[in-house]
Amino acid sequence: MRIGVLTSGGDCAGLNAVILAVVRRAVLGYGWDVVGIRQGTHGLMQDPPHAIDLNDQVNSDGLLRLGGTILGTVNKGDPFHYPMPDGSFADRSSEVIEGYHKLGLDALIGIGGDGSMAILHRLAKMGGINLVGIPKTVDNDLAQTEYSIGFTTAVNVATDALDRLQPTAASHERIMILEVMGRDAGHIALFAGVAGGADVILIPEMDYDLDELSQHCLNIRKSGRNHALVIVAEAVKRDDGSAVTLGDDGQKVRYGGIGHWLADELGARTGWETRVTVLGHVQRGGTPSPRDRVIASAFGVHAVDLIAERKFDRVCAWQQRKVVDVAMEDVIVGPRLVDTQGTMVSTAKGLGAYMGHPPK
Ligand code: F6P
Repeated sequence: MRIGVLTSGGDCAGLNAVILAVVRRAVLGYGWDVVGIRQGTHGLMQDPPHAIDLNDQVNSDGLLRLGGTILGTVNKGDPFHYPMPDGSFADRSSEVIEGYHKLGLDALIGIGGDGSMAILHRLAKMGGINLVGIPKTVDNDLAQTEYSIGFTTAVNVATDALDRLQPTAASHERIMILEVMGRDAGHIALFAGVAGGADVILIPEMDYDLDELSQHCLNIRKSGRNHALVIVAEAVKRDDGSAVTLGDDGQKVRYGGIGHWLADELGARTGWETRVTVLGHVQRGGTPSPRDRVIASAFGVHAVDLIAERKFDRVCAWQQRKVVDVAMEDVIVGPRLVDTQGTMVSTAKGLGAYMGHPPK
């Protein structure tokens, strides 16, 4: 048997740990060959396909700990709507499918978020690709799984940022605003906000009121605390409902800037000095947390076992302390948002953080 593995979409910590787990399970457990595809579906489109032999990674000490992805994940575009040099778009899906067959693969493990998973699922259906998916994304917004690879590391980084902002906030008597990633979901902001003791946690799933928010900060000051910590997810909108973005590259909107807008508004309304930190891609890089390594390892082993059982079109998922697999169709259903009635929100509110209200 010869299986392929690719990483697709934005990188995150733990991708190399999955690759290692796939290689170890396939080589040591089944005696198979593992081929790594470079740059996701873009690598399969090339003639010959861009691929590397991964069997010799079986004894790698570094992969478990290494951030990023050794396979690369340059997002050149959706193969069904591929941007061409002349500005037009072409359907290059058949080239991707051809690449899989040219490599003589018996199955493919795709490590991706919901966008990548939807594309791979479509390609697999059209082209007879035996596909198994592994969920990864710092946003943790994939349906059916409690954890996606990369999320815990991102939360650790954001929590560490709050830990570092708190003393400087106290020294200077400021409101510190931390803007974090997450796309349309507020999981990073919510988890890090609770873990890092934020006084205000703003997520896209909840509406907020600037007057209430400012009053909350003033109450904090009145209570004798000389500083406040605010964490805001990148996709939170201005209070008039307009989005703050850095642009749109034709494939997706790039969020960013809400932290600065909020700092101006809060500063003006409270008379309190504000500063902003936009955490950005440091949430995606670096050494994976132990939990991400554990999840990556469990998913990698399970994905190879699924191939051995010839169970395809399945995605590994973490549910109630176990690795299970679910139909790919049930995963590519759009982002899994924060449950505004759930434990995390009630915990944050119970701790006294301002979160606003579920939308009416
Ligand atoms: O989906 C992961 C993510 O890191 C989002 O949280 C963020 O909005 C986006 O990717 C950033 O993408 P890029 O790497 O293209 O700037």
